[in-house]
Amino acid sequence: MIILGIESSCDETAAAVVIDGAVKANAIYSQIAKHAPYGGVVPEIASRDHVKKMPGIIEQALTEAGCTFDDLDGIAVTYGPGLASSLLIGYSAARALSQSLDLPLMGMNHHEGHIYSVFLGDEPPVLDGCFPMLTLMVSGGDTRLVYIKEPGHYEVIGQTIDDAAGEALDKGSTLLGLGYPGGPAVQKFAEGGNPNAVRFPRGLDNAGGDWPFSFDRKLCFSFSGLKTALLYHLQKHPSALEDEDEKRDVTASYQEAVADALTKRMERALKKYNCASFACAGGVSLNRPLREKLAALSEKTGIPLKLSSPRLCTDNAAMIAGAAAIKLQAGLPFNSPDDVNPNLSL
Ligand code: KG4
Repeated sequence: MIILGIESSCDETAAAVVIDGAVKANAIYSQIAKHAPYGGVVPEIASRDHVKKMPGIIEQALTEAGCTFDDLDGIAVTYGPGLASSLLIGYSAARALSQSLDLPLMGMNHHEGHIYSVFLGDEPPVLDGCFPMLTLMVSGGDTRLVYIKEPGHYEVIGQTIDDAAGEALDKGSTLLGLGYPGGPAVQKFAEGGNPNAVRFPRGLDNAGGDWPFSFDRKLCFSFSGLKTALLYHLQKHPSALEDEDEKRDVTASYQEAVADALTKRMERALKKYNCASFACAGGVSLNRPLREKLAALSEKTGIPLKLSSPRLCTDNAAMIAGAAAIKLQAGLPFNSPDDVNPNLSL
């Protein structure tokens, strides 16, 4: 089965071709440079740029895969969650193609794409023996733990109560003057720094008082205090912004606090839930210290860890087409959504 995938939920315009679940083409155009001067994604700039780039990106994916529109068996598109004005561009393209080519349309949840990205590559995906699986979803707008009993059955068991992990890195990077997007900038600058130089908070661990959420507090995340702690540290120690070595240590310590907070929750979740494997997906899963900590946790627990290949960690359409192929393989039907849903939940 040959599926064309389309993704435009935020600031990446992407199209991909997946054949029997194996990734044959993964074309991505990133708008990062256009949003960098504003320190974050500007929705109107994003949607206008998607309109310009989408046709060329779809053509590029088909060419890379050696396919034409006539070879396709279906189209998969992200229809939520995300920025409404961005989602609509990919969705409109997919719906127009589906109608004009008389092909079935699969609306995909962006998060499902990230979840299944850990199974995708040059060969058809193998899911046997991996479920139940615990997945840590970490991106610019999302940080949560999802228990997946089997493909298509998701239970969110913990989430951030304020900022996402990627947001914490992006905001921390701005405070440190390292630029946008913050995750890669922080990782690069922290190289060689001492991650234990400053003890930044890991969020929620020492908090008392009421807990208004239904989730287990021990499996939830909080990053807003970390960002404030960095701000206070820099105000108290102005030399940390002037002295290159000191700044490197502070940056490495900040990154360490994020990676440690994430890994700690995964460790607790693995103790509470019986799992055949665990995974980490989304842009922040590219982070090297985080990958190393999760690999060490896998070694310690004996539970296999699944990570996406780097090209599939950040937003892309291969994960959308690949996740659709996995769902179809599991017997789920083409759902042909008739609109986007910016608040779509798992
Ligand atoms: O999944 P993603 O591409 O987009 C969404 O948010 O949907 O994730 C983007 C986030 C940004 O916050 C970025 O700073 C972070 O992923 N990121 C990283 C790294 N590369 C990207 N964070 C830590 N280390 C990295 N190497």
